[in-house]
Amino acid sequence: MTHDVEKEIINLKNEILKHNHSYYVLDDPTISDAEYDLLFRRLKELESKHPDLVTEDSPTQRVGGGLQKSFNTVKHKTPLLSLDNAMNYTELEDFDRRVIEGLGVENIEYVCELKIDGLAVSIVYEDGVFVLASTRGDGVEGEDITQNIKTVRSLPLRLKAKKDLEVRGEVYLPYDDFIKLNNERESNGEARFANPRNAAAGSVRQLDPKVTAKRPLDIFFYYAQFEENLYKSHFENLEEIKKLGLKINPNIKIAKGIEEVKKYIEHWGMRRASLKYEIDGVVVKVNDLLFQKKLGYTARAPKWAIAYKYPPMQAKTVLEDIKVQVGRTGAITPVAILKPVHLHNGDEIARKGIKIGDHVLVQRAGDVIPEVVAPIKEKRSGREIEFKMPKKCPSCGGKLFREEGEAILRCINAGCIAQIKEKLAHFVSRNAMDIEHMGPSIIDQLVGKGFVKNFADIYLLKKEDLLSLDRFAEKSANNVMKSIENSKSLSHERLIFALGIRMVGRETATVLSRHYSTIEALSKASSEELVSINSVGPKVARSIVQFFAEDENMKIINSLKKLGVNTFQKIENGEKKLDGKKFIFTGKLLSMSRNDAEAKVLALGGSVSSSLSKDIDYIVVGDDPGSKYSKGIKLGIKCITEEEFQNI
Ligand code: IVH
Repeated sequence: MTHDVEKEIINLKNEILKHNHSYYVLDDPTISDAEYDLLFRRLKELESKHPDLVTEDSPTQRVGGGLQKSFNTVKHKTPLLSLDNAMNYTELEDFDRRVIEGLGVENIEYVCELKIDGLAVSIVYEDGVFVLASTRGDGVEGEDITQNIKTVRSLPLRLKAKKDLEVRGEVYLPYDDFIKLNNERESNGEARFANPRNAAAGSVRQLDPKVTAKRPLDIFFYYAQFEENLYKSHFENLEEIKKLGLKINPNIKIAKGIEEVKKYIEHWGMRRASLKYEIDGVVVKVNDLLFQKKLGYTARAPKWAIAYKYPPMQAKTVLEDIKVQVGRTGAITPVAILKPVHLHNGDEIARKGIKIGDHVLVQRAGDVIPEVVAPIKEKRSGREIEFKMPKKCPSCGGKLFREEGEAILRCINAGCIAQIKEKLAHFVSRNAMDIEHMGPSIIDQLVGKGFVKNFADIYLLKKEDLLSLDRFAEKSANNVMKSIENSKSLSHERLIFALGIRMVGRETATVLSRHYSTIEALSKASSEELVSINSVGPKVARSIVQFFAEDENMKIINSLKKLGVNTFQKIENGEKKLDGKKFIFTGKLLSMSRNDAEAKVLALGGSVSSSLSKDIDYIVVGDDPGSKYSKGIKLGIKCITEEEFQNI
């Protein structure tokens, strides 16, 4: 029997690894997401029944490690060097000349690679199994990021050959995900990352691998240390890396001589905006490994490679207006209205397949990029109008305040309609309570008609209320009602995020949900206690305490609870600790209300009875218990104390 299970686990692992490779490395999925989920779930199920059969390289172990206190230091076997830069063609030609003279040859073959703007990492495989990942650090010593790197899906935990190998590469966050992350951070009142590299570094250096797992990091390898004389060229090394299952960038090219290098630089200089990741240049490497050896290294960088740096991407446009928006935290944000981009004609729209509401890639092609860097003063006509931040909220007319040490002006009127709408939009959003079909125009109407004033009101909505809205038919009303109902049983991690506590984004919500098994427990946490959690700083702690100190917020949370919204921690991946277990309570509970206790049982998959019978599994005995206690003992039912119940 065990033998069969072992075999099935091995087969599942191999199959999942194969699909992972097709999906994450080759970008060429071989099965549907649903089929993949089935395989993955089956593996998880078998592994949870046979923990002894869980191996380090199992695909289920990507977010294996728990919280880390800090990162250990790792000494690199050979230093991770930097690269010398060439800022223009003269410096590039100087490099080519040095190489040619150093080798005494006429022409030289280079490998051109994109210089990915991310974080350099070293990865060690032993006998083909991933064992260690570290950051570059100061080049000699880096930090052990093994747990976090495991969350990078394209990184194989096992190579296609049982080899001892050190590979180096660049971990990066795709550009769209970087923008998304920054938008999320901004709306949570968290600081934006300055660039994708900082975002990648910040993600890799998270003490909680679960947080890293939420950032869709990826990796390209650009270097491997194979046994000497095994391969003749850097290009062959890269091909071998690829064969082993590691991801290399698809745009690597051999250039015969520096003129071809320049062509590569120009080609990608024009197309860099179309890439899914940020590059800041091109790395040019001497291809022949013997030549590399001959040229050698300086203390800082190899003499056989150079990084040609592109200028930062900037473009000119006209700032037509500055409008003022009110966010869900009352933050007043000026928004630049840039000159619209002409799409010329309908054919162009059709050809490009663009739709309203699309996120679009904006090229530098002589026109617009989204960030406003500086005005072009020479182009001013004198008719430009100075912009002044408003003194009153543009939505409700309320007075605006600025907190000490903060740059942001805020409207603090809790009844401000613009804020209420934004708060609700956040609450129902996909990463929060995931109430589908409740877009901005519906929220506008629900608030406008007075149906919804706060989060709890959503759960009081009736189908008739929805049917009274514009363009709402039976089917759409049913859909919304269903989504609302479904949202009640989500994990409390989502609710923590959905509440919209300032500075509590998805990641902080995840961290908090691990420390506090109920919203109630979180609401009672002191600032000191919160700060003792890694990754929660004093500002975040203060914001959390302030949020729960507001009577109005507590009232809403209590209403949510009463309306059946789950406020308890749930065991991940649907695994329910109390699956099928029946509970009964007797006596007064001191640490929590009876309602909360019952909700906990339900959230963990159990059920609660009101009358005693033989099929009850547990009696929770509180203070001054009733007759159920003595009767239960007679029936031989297991009795547990309140403390034992808390620790379930
Ligand atoms: S080669 C000895 N190749 O650029 C080999 N580096 O400024 C040295 N980088 O620390 C690195 N893409 O993090 C190489 N295709 C690429 C690269 C690349 C990005 C980064 C790497 C390095 C930094 C040097």
